[in-house]
Amino acid sequence: MTLERELMYLPRPASKYAGCYPKYFEKHIERLLGTKNYLHAFCGSSTTGLRIDINPESNADLICDVHHLPFRDNVFEGSFADPPYNAKFSDKLYDTKQAKLYTWSKELSRVTKPNGKIGIMHVVVLPKIHNCKYIKIVAILLRIWQITKIITLYQKDP
Ligand SMILES: C[S@@+](CC[C@H](N)C(=O)[O-])C[C@H]1O[C@@H](n2cnc3c(N)ncnc32)[C@H](O)[C@@H]1O
Repeated sequence: MTLERELMYLPRPASKYAGCYPKYFEKHIERLLGTKNYLHAFCGSSTTGLRIDINPESNADLICDVHHLPFRDNVFEGSFADPPYNAKFSDKLYDTKQAKLYTWSKELSRVTKPNGKIGIMHVVVLPKIHNCKYIKIVAILLRIWQITKIITLYQKDP
């Protein structure tokens, strides 16, 4: 089976927050996940979903560490995450330790309902995450010299 693919071109940043989304990207999250009721992890300056971030100066609804989510299992229709992409970004841009993909993605999967979709923005295609299958890869071309962003989209098992 061929994995579904999508290409976007969004050359402008959305805000001055370090590592922010491309402008106009956020409205696509609801379309990609098929719901407005999603957990938005590593939210930074974003404005949609139930927003979680460790930085008190972010736009978060809840300040907490994504490695330990204070929610019951299977409560969100979907989840989306935009983590720092490496240890240097974590340290220099956000003053955090590098987030552990295996640990926090398992948390995202735990709080997402069965069959719910989970999207993770990064600069590479990511490995499979706990209890999920691949459904789509989205590439976002940015301005000149900016590294392409890639969203790996998963679906949680029934
Ligand atoms: C790439 S930025 C996300 C920016 C966001 N997409 C936007 O448009 O503004 C990564 C975010 O992860 C947050 N972060 C880093 N480690 C975290 C952790 N362990 N738990 C929760 N948030 C964390 C940082 O504070 C930062 O806001």
